[in-house]
Amino acid sequence: MDIKKIEFQQHGDSRGMLVVAEYQKEIPFTVKRIYYIYGADSETRRGFHSHKNLQQIYIAIHGSCKVTLTDGKTTETVCLDDAASGLYIGHNVWREIYDFSDDAVLLVLASEPYSEDDYIRTYDQFIQTQTENI
Ligand code: TYD
Repeated sequence: MDIKKIEFQQHGDSRGMLVVAEYQKEIPFTVKRIYYIYGADSETRRGFHSHKNLQQIYIAIHGSCKVTLTDGKTTETVCLDDAASGLYIGHNVWREIYDFSDDAVLLVLASEPYSEDDYIRTYDQFIQTQTENI
């Protein structure tokens, strides 16, 4: 499955923390869009889609949440709770995001502008596409 934990550059001192993610170092794609999710809670479940081409990096810059990911064969659950690391998610990975802490802010870096055509929004269609890709 095309996912990877990425450690960012940390420059913390007595004045606070400063975290850096740079193109071609920690970020393997050109960032064409960012968005962030907050105001979710422990009951919220989001995601429930995969992308045909999009690459993303999820960063819990505050608080925490969980992401369950599958490529149809392997399934993994990752807890995002560290502002100094991110989760790279390649294309063709189904994701579900849940267990948000009340203070969670989930920042997402994306390789392309928003396109609804790039989404696969039903699990049945995702599995069908994965089978066709083999
Ligand atoms: P949605 O795909 O439901 O979010 P999630 O994947 O977290 O469950 O997106 C919510 C709404 O926001 C939906 O109407 C599409 C819109 N949206 C944009 O317009 N641009 C974007 O970049 C994103 C990510 C969503």
